[in-house]
Amino acid sequence: MNADKGSDNHLPHHLSIIMDGNGRWAKQKKIPRVMGHKNGIDATSNAIEFCLKENIAVLSIYAFSSENWQRPKNEVRLLMGLFLDAIDKHAKQLHINNVKIIFIGDISVFQDPLKEKIKKLTKLTKNNDKLILNIAMNYGGQQEIIIAVNKILQENKHKKITIEQFDKYLDLDQIAKPDLLIRSGGERRLSNFLLYHLAYTEIYFSDILWPDVDDKVLYDACDFYKTRQRRYGKIAQQITANN
Ligand code: FPP
Repeated sequence: MNADKGSDNHLPHHLSIIMDGNGRWAKQKKIPRVMGHKNGIDATSNAIEFCLKENIAVLSIYAFSSENWQRPKNEVRLLMGLFLDAIDKHAKQLHINNVKIIFIGDISVFQDPLKEKIKKLTKLTKNNDKLILNIAMNYGGQQEIIIAVNKILQENKHKKITIEQFDKYLDLDQIAKPDLLIRSGGERRLSNFLLYHLAYTEIYFSDILWPDVDDKVLYDACDFYKTRQRRYGKIAQQITANN
């Protein structure tokens, strides 16, 4: 697949999101951080609905990074509980809505009940094709690259490798690269998300905290995307000449 599909007045074909700001949202409201995450899950659910409504083909979201284990133990425990509840609450509807769910990252370290639910949901939705939803859990972009390199070394099959061959060792194997990345919450960094895949992705930063991200913010991000000319290293005249 080719990321070009998302250029020039089109919506992104593949949208990726760093859903940041749950903690600060809760702090502003003087309520526990976990309430920020709970409301964050509702915003995530809305973003999925948005993609279904707008025929966006792939959505990749950063739910839990390899580095998030360093958070206070209690927050990590509560987050794991929320992930379990979210799967229970939303799995059926996601399947009805024809969403194929793929987990990227190392899920082997999660406790058995969550691991089981992740495996079941992946199996249940594997033939769906309206929207591919990649959920990054215990995921790090650097880790993804290193795991791929180690696999290649272990196989001892390649002396030299092409980009196309390398792609096959990555978690997002065979899926078009993100056209647009949205990061909510005001920070302007990638935080180890999809480092390899974001090479030519357009990036939209919003100051809105994730639980407050609604259709308006998502449409604003898509409007920004429509204004971008994607050159992939070429010059502007070469792009307009091809249109
Ligand atoms: C960042 O807010 C958000 C996370 C660490 C991810 C939490 C998960 C979700 C929003 C929902 C995803 C749900 C599913 C089921 C896939 P933060 O705590 O870093 O906020 P802060 O920067 O304000 O502290």
